[in-house]
Amino acid sequence: MHILLKQLLPTVSLMAIVASGFTQKQTVIRPGEVWPDTDGKHIQAHGGGIIKMGKTYYWYGEERSRGLDTNFRYVSCYSSRDLMNWKFMGDVVKMADPENLGRRWVLERPKVFFNKKTKKYVMYFHLDNSSYKVARVGIAVSDRPVGPFTYVKSFRPLDHESRDIGQFIDDDGTAYLVFEDRPFGFRIAKLSEDYMNVEKEMSLIKAHMEGGAIVHYKGLYYSIGSALTGWKANPNKYSTAPTLQGPWTEFKDIAPPETNTYGSQSTMLIKVAGKKSTTIIFMADVWKPGTQWDSRYIWMPIEIGDGKLWVPEPKPWTINVKTGEWKYVQDAALK
Ligand code: DGJ
Repeated sequence: MHILLKQLLPTVSLMAIVASGFTQKQTVIRPGEVWPDTDGKHIQAHGGGIIKMGKTYYWYGEERSRGLDTNFRYVSCYSSRDLMNWKFMGDVVKMADPENLGRRWVLERPKVFFNKKTKKYVMYFHLDNSSYKVARVGIAVSDRPVGPFTYVKSFRPLDHESRDIGQFIDDDGTAYLVFEDRPFGFRIAKLSEDYMNVEKEMSLIKAHMEGGAIVHYKGLYYSIGSALTGWKANPNKYSTAPTLQGPWTEFKDIAPPETNTYGSQSTMLIKVAGKKSTTIIFMADVWKPGTQWDSRYIWMPIEIGDGKLWVPEPKPWTINVKTGEWKYVQDAALK
């Protein structure tokens, strides 16, 4: 028995290592690298958005895995309690062309808002045809954060063109949609009480920017966006204002411009308000247009305050969502 065990031990340990390799707990966020979910698969939640319900974060995004049925568009949902380990909760949207938009129709940048009054989860997304001329938002609704979401309608918010969308929930819980209106600029608008409509314009920032995101930090609003260069990265910029109505300052770089935002494009600013500190995370996509399933993410805690915002050079880091503190991690691979 003893001998048998001895003989088997190397095999058993190898099996354990292989098994644990697939479900290894993440203690580090490695910007730009493959980000395995709790099943060991690269997270598919591109152009995404995050909400927090109780202690759980939900990350929704474009599911772009290889081998999906090309007749459908998919939105994935992942859940996490620590922002590092993400469990795939399934594709919460699997939708066929809802508005006769043609074979190469587009569903991008899904964002989910939870409405406290109706208790519904309301998903907004950019809905378009292959030439991006339709420029509408679509809405799908669910009773649960993990779906399934049912398509309801599409429209142009406040009758304006809308391509990239961003979501902003203010500290008082008010929900806003940020949308790119190509002829004019970047609009911020309040959602209606039930979130099923876009009701009131707060600002039109006359800058041609997409990938819009906003954060409210120490009495100032910071908005960031990217230039309009398709899937190619460009220098993303930020502006600030004392209220959502403005006045907004000139846009300034958020990173060394020659790095094109370290090869990424903004999608959201996540505020982690912990017991000891508040960390704002720049959440961005590193698009790989020819191999979209391999598109990566850059998440970095930003330097922010007194009207300044800066995304430091991406390096491995870790966060404690309870305290709100983060730190760089040296030699992450050896940990
Ligand atoms: C840039 C946008 O930010 C993306 O969401 C996507 O619409 C691409 N353009 C398409 O070229």
